[in-house]
Amino acid sequence: MSKTFSTADVANHNKKDDLFIIVDEDVYDLTSFQTEHPGGQKILQRVAGKDASKQFWKYHNEGILKKYQGKLKVGSLDSKAAEAPKSAPTPPPEPKEEKAVAKPESGTVSAEPTEKVESVAFDAFGDLVPYADPSWYQTYHSPYYNETHVALREEVRAWVDEAIEPYVTEWDEAKQVPEEIYKQMGQRGYLAGLMGLADFPKHLAKYQCKSVPPEKWDAFHELIITDELSRPGSGGLVWNLIGGFGIGCPPFIRFGQKQVIERVLPDILSGEKRICLAITEPDAGSDVANLTCEAKLTEDGKHFIVNGEKKWITNGVWCDYFTVAVRTGKPEDGAKGVSLLLVERSFGGVSTRRMDCQGVWSSGTTYVTFEDVKVPVENLIGKKNKGFQVIMTNFNHERMGIVIQATRFARVCYEQSVKYSKKRETFGVKLYQHPVIRLKLAHMARQIEATYNWMENLIYQSIHMQEEEAMLKLGGAIAGLKAQATTTFEYCAREASQIFGGLSYSRGGQGGKVERLYRDVLPTPFPVVRRRSCWISASDRRSRCMSSWA
Ligand SMILES: Cc1cc2nc3c(=O)[nH]c(=O)nc-3n(C[C@H](O)[C@H](O)[C@H](O)COP(=O)(O)OP(=O)(O)OC[C@H]3O[C@@H](n4cnc5c(N)ncnc54)[C@H](O)[C@@H]3O)c2cc1C
Ligand code: HEM
Repeated sequence: MSKTFSTADVANHNKKDDLFIIVDEDVYDLTSFQTEHPGGQKILQRVAGKDASKQFWKYHNEGILKKYQGKLKVGSLDSKAAEAPKSAPTPPPEPKEEKAVAKPESGTVSAEPTEKVESVAFDAFGDLVPYADPSWYQTYHSPYYNETHVALREEVRAWVDEAIEPYVTEWDEAKQVPEEIYKQMGQRGYLAGLMGLADFPKHLAKYQCKSVPPEKWDAFHELIITDELSRPGSGGLVWNLIGGFGIGCPPFIRFGQKQVIERVLPDILSGEKRICLAITEPDAGSDVANLTCEAKLTEDGKHFIVNGEKKWITNGVWCDYFTVAVRTGKPEDGAKGVSLLLVERSFGGVSTRRMDCQGVWSSGTTYVTFEDVKVPVENLIGKKNKGFQVIMTNFNHERMGIVIQATRFARVCYEQSVKYSKKRETFGVKLYQHPVIRLKLAHMARQIEATYNWMENLIYQSIHMQEEEAMLKLGGAIAGLKAQATTTFEYCAREASQIFGGLSYSRGGQGGKVERLYRDVLPTPFPVVRRRSCWISASDRRSRCMSSWA
């Protein structure tokens, strides 16, 4: 049970075998913990019985307290207990009253437009480091969001702060995210909302999102979920939770056959079963039309027999279902001989092996082999030999997902840098007091804001255009935005690494997020590279990135 202490009480616990400290008016018993403290025992013994808040914040990020509080906190100071009790969390804001629009009187000339676009400024949210959250979190007006977005933002952030952020580093090192977290993605209705569909698919989803009525769901809600999930700064985490699903499920739900969708989709959306997209092969990446994994129709016309290999398949090791690009035509037919099939692991003949990669460790990058897998023809997604078109329909959505992640990852690099530069002193002043460091921060912020604003605009366009119009008009713009977002992320990861110095090169600790994101940068541009509309190749990016180190 939590006790109340005076500073004099705490001062009595000042020995190696009875070691209490105070951090922010809370009292921690570190007697047993000191031997496992990564910063060493002696440093704790020096502050035994004292208020060590200043020293604590010098060496740690916020996540450390959250993680260890349950285990080590034994009470609070009487000064804290005397404070007024904390008020209950603020409920989601009520819908704002409609603003009256001034109408000009007849016969007068008005400088005001007769109708204004509805624009709302919401309460401040987050810790308000300038540019470390989108501007609509920091009381800027925006035409894009309403009270359901605000409520969802609060809901996702509370979950991420409590159940995800403190453990992300452990999960990354273990190359696995607990299954329970994925299931919660389903139970919270997030998976069902992340498919780029105009409507929330409530007829197939066992669960709905608490904060947003299905009829109000839109692409900005998707933005919020992906953005908030990216805040812990782990590409592995985000790709674990939405990587395979976000690219593997939409083609199936749009073009799969009704009876197959009804059989398998409810369990996929609830997080019980997992799905991924398997296109790339050891010999065919950018050049998809050249793929060789074959699917031959049986003589009775009831099954395809699938044989071949797929490489770098996100989530593959954990998946029950694979949306697979296969060759159903002749090799010389190129893209016109490609089909999509839903391959189920339960059919037999599917083997998966985890690959060791530079980054995105907890995303489960996988090598897949199909050996004489017997797939019923009902599992064809779209028409035979028209699979290439089906893959193309998800490009805008797939790219936008990467844009959102890359932009938040860039923000995380920036946010970490701002916070650290206010702590670290060199040559007698804080880091941020050096103009060169402030210039780095300013260049990071301007690119992040430019990218986010373009992103909001294109999401808005995608909501208001018909599907075909959006494909025709937005494909090039979204590809360009993806190049913008991933280059911004690369830039910010590099600049943040410079600001953190040695801390960005060792794993964990204060520079841990930046170190991890630096490793996670490279695959973010990849899926674009695969398509013909690529802007800059991954290898060009890498060499540019390398040369800028020189
Ligand atoms: C972490 C990770 C996760 C992935 N997840 C998935 C997944 O879930 N599903 C999936 O199907 N695939 C996945 N991929 C594969 C990814 O889509 C491919 O790596 C990508 O398409 C590039 O293919 P490749 O690696 O074979 O490169 P190649 O096609 O061999 O290309 C090599 C280089 O040459 C450049 N290049 C190729 N052709 C041209 C050209 N005409 N002009 C100029 N430059 C060119 C490319 O840009 C690239 O830089 C993943 C990859 C990674 C690393
Ligand atoms: C509640 C009490 C504390 C807990 C739970 C705790 C936990 C940790 C953890 C988990 C790390 C690993 C680095 C990281 O992941 O960020 C760490 C590092 C460290 N801690 Fe603590 N700590 C506590 C108190 C203190 C105090 C009071 C001091 C100083 C007086 C201190 C000094 C350090 C130092 C110097 C490091 C190494 C930082 C580095 O590698 O750059 N810690 N601590």
